[in-house]
Amino acid sequence: MTYIGNDIERAVSLLENDQVIGIPTETVYGLAGNALNPSVITKIYEVKKRPLTNPLIIHLSDVTQLHKYVKNIPAIAEKLAEHFWPGPLTLLLPKRDVIPDIVTSGFPNVAVRIPSHPLAIQLLRKLSFPLAAPSANPFGYISPTSAEDVKRILFGKIDYILDGGLCSKGIESTIVGFEGETPIIYRLGAISPEAIKKIAGKVEINNKHNAKPISPGMHPFHYAPNTSFYLTDNMEVMLKTFPRTGTGILAFKNLSPLIPLENQDILSTSGSLDEAAHNLYKALHRLDSLKLDRIIAERVPNNGIGIAINDRLERASAK
Ligand code: TXA
Ligand code: MG
Repeated sequence: MTYIGNDIERAVSLLENDQVIGIPTETVYGLAGNALNPSVITKIYEVKKRPLTNPLIIHLSDVTQLHKYVKNIPAIAEKLAEHFWPGPLTLLLPKRDVIPDIVTSGFPNVAVRIPSHPLAIQLLRKLSFPLAAPSANPFGYISPTSAEDVKRILFGKIDYILDGGLCSKGIESTIVGFEGETPIIYRLGAISPEAIKKIAGKVEINNKHNAKPISPGMHPFHYAPNTSFYLTDNMEVMLKTFPRTGTGILAFKNLSPLIPLENQDILSTSGSLDEAAHNLYKALHRLDSLKLDRIIAERVPNNGIGIAINDRLERASAK
């Protein structure tokens, strides 16, 4: 059985006993376990059905822990950490030997972040080890932003999900590595490239999908519903090319008069990109559960967090 609850002591006890559980973060729910124990890490990969070549992020309670797990931190990384932590920023930094190789798939860098969800921080403070946690979805599927969605997609595979309500950000952390003192974004996420640039003075985006994927999160097929998924800049035009029955839509601001209301989700009626990010995965899970013939989604304005939303929609439609 898989239970949902808000019993921190139970979560601590399960994690101390080498179990893997669902935990809330401000971005998406994580599938968490002791990052220092290779057999726990193996369990995470198994539950997620994730290839061992796709490394995991470790989560810390506070910045004083950082030096225990990584070395040679560039000054610019310190500056970004100071500004964005706790929060949806993941840094790729050279790992120390205490971090098992299986966490990083053999790469010399480990991905690390300090989440800002109060329950996640409370939990991490009670543990003597960091938590490795990928998003709590089967490999390639839509990330969950509620305990209920985790339960539905991982039912019977984990015993417990710590319920922290709906994730406030709703989209994964931004992953940043460094070449010297230049920050390179390897996965677009809740913190926009402009925001990184404002603090660091410069930023580059790594868009190379296939040449040696340093961050497999950049893989083209990802975050995808089971239902056929199409992406468009013009919903009304796209709708004319498909039968209305069996069609669901994921629109940015406006409902369509052509499609039954229950087959539509709006990301933000007021046109707020933050609200759109917050609602994105929840809406995708709901539409996918309707088992329609197709879902048509609409691109959002490509600025701020909208860049990450469009990135996820592109990947979801790549299949
Ligand atoms: O917001 C988030 O980051 C969420 C929450 C739970 O913290 N976690 C998350 O983890 O999105 P995951 O495993 O679903 O995505 C992490 C991405 C993967 O694409 C992985 O390949 C990349 O980070 N990654 C992890 N460690 C890496 C490393 N050492 N080098 C390069 N890429 C790495
Ligand atoms: Mg993921």
